[in-house]
Amino acid sequence: MSPTPLITRTVPALRRAVDNLRKRKATVALVPTMGALHDGHVSLVRLAKRRGSRVVVSIFVNPTQFAPSEDFGAYPRTWTADIAKLAAEGVDIVWHPGVEAMYPEGFATRIVPEGPALAGLEDRFRPHFFGGVATVVGKLFTQCRPDVAIFGEKDFQQLRVVTQLARDLDLGVKVIGSRTVRERDGLAMSSRNVYLSPEERQTATVLYRAMKDSAGRIRAGEAIRPAMARGAETIAAAGFALDYFEVRNAKTLAPVTSHNDGPLRILVAARLGTTRLIDNVAV
Ligand code: PAF
Repeated sequence: MSPTPLITRTVPALRRAVDNLRKRKATVALVPTMGALHDGHVSLVRLAKRRGSRVVVSIFVNPTQFAPSEDFGAYPRTWTADIAKLAAEGVDIVWHPGVEAMYPEGFATRIVPEGPALAGLEDRFRPHFFGGVATVVGKLFTQCRPDVAIFGEKDFQQLRVVTQLARDLDLGVKVIGSRTVRERDGLAMSSRNVYLSPEERQTATVLYRAMKDSAGRIRAGEAIRPAMARGAETIAAAGFALDYFEVRNAKTLAPVTSHNDGPLRILVAARLGTTRLIDNVAV
């Protein structure tokens, strides 16, 4: 059996633990999470193990990235199962601060990201989100001081925002994106998939199929607008309320009008009942 990772709950305890690793010349890879770990997170941890000699996983459900109307209270919390998964992967340290350790009384400083955080995708529908993410990720980076940090490509705009954050603030962390892990039927793994009813779970596969279909059409030379319109229609016809279904430049997230504006990425966000799903694929 793998040993349980060292669980740290205060910044000084985390710093001591990371310093001890560094004294032994470790390169430290951080995997930031909000817990409710699934195979997608496990793949982030495995990539972290390849990119660093020691791995820290943070588990913190960050209240500042949820709007009051969102699911902060209901967000799945599966601590015992999470620790068992991390132990099985040989994770060294779990950073699990309480809200009072992350945002102590009198906390008054926030990071306000621009550039990719204002691309008109997630930010249009969740205007509070990237401020909360950038602030907590900035703190996670300075608390843990990793050499590299691994983020899933499933949250594609978030990956661009934290990459820019690390660069703009000279945080000395290399941000690495990790490929989306999918269920056998194509649905991207997400902690929020547990909200789907069995019927919605069946319907949810339409998102990936529609993206793949539009990507295939664009690759085959079809004009972007009709190829995307068809995908959007398929998604709406399946019963989703669509927030966006767009093709963007994969590096800048800028809108595109032609095949020459690539590399291209299709990004989608849609609501099925009360569950909001996001996903993306390369064209
Ligand atoms: O992607 C997530 O799980 C969260 O947004 C993150 C990066 C851990 C910040 O809270």
